[in-house]
Amino acid sequence: MPGLTPTVTVEPVRDRLRAADLHDLCDAADEAIRAGGGFGWVEPPPRDVMERYWKGVLVVPERMLFVGRLDGVIAGSAQLQRPPRNNEAQAHAGTLTTSFVAPWARGHGLARRLTLAVERAAREAGLRILNLDVRETQEAAIVLYEHLGFTRWGTHPYYAQVDGKPVAGHFYFKDLTSNPQPDDTPP
Ligand SMILES: CC(C)(COP(=O)(O)OP(=O)(O)OC[C@H]1O[C@@H](n2cnc3c(N)ncnc32)[C@H](O)[C@@H]1OP(=O)(O)O)[C@@H](O)C(=O)NCCC(=O)NCCS
Repeated sequence: MPGLTPTVTVEPVRDRLRAADLHDLCDAADEAIRAGGGFGWVEPPPRDVMERYWKGVLVVPERMLFVGRLDGVIAGSAQLQRPPRNNEAQAHAGTLTTSFVAPWARGHGLARRLTLAVERAAREAGLRILNLDVRETQEAAIVLYEHLGFTRWGTHPYYAQVDGKPVAGHFYFKDLTSNPQPDDTPP
């Protein structure tokens, strides 16, 4: 039935976020952290700290921020991190990091679109390898990355610490030179 399928869009943030978008991004991140996180924070930080975090991301030259919208409202994001300029030996590899989707927006393909946008940007930047790492508890993310052709090369038993307990994490890479860019439409 028309009107029931939400519109999913993903875009890079070039220099600044409008106040309403920054607010929505902070809300989405807060909700994702409360639902089990996935990008470092175990508890949501105070709002001013969260706002400074996102503004900080935008001024780091090696970082590229992507936001995902459901019906126009920012509901998730992901980043491409390139190595610092002094790291010539790893200049070929980037990292997909800080990927999340707010719980209310899950299941509509937003994470897939965000991941593909980061992969496309990595290719456009001339990177040959895309790395990522994920807590072993993030089952949906693991399914997504494995469907998109990322190869697990290791597991760190003490990757994260949540509520005083260690949580293992998986490390993945994708060779962009021997894998074509996947289609944006879900399988
Ligand atoms: C992982 C996460 C980003 C997925 O967001 P989403 O927008 O709902 O994901 P999508 O709708 O794009 O679905 C992506 C894939 O995950 C699969 N998936 C979604 N929910 C799932 C679940 N609960 N269990 C298993 N697989 C699941 C889908 O089948 C889909 O696979 P496919 O497209 O290859 O068939 C979201 O659950 C989240 O933010 N989790 C917490 C943070 C996190 O894990 N971040 C990643 C850390 S690097």
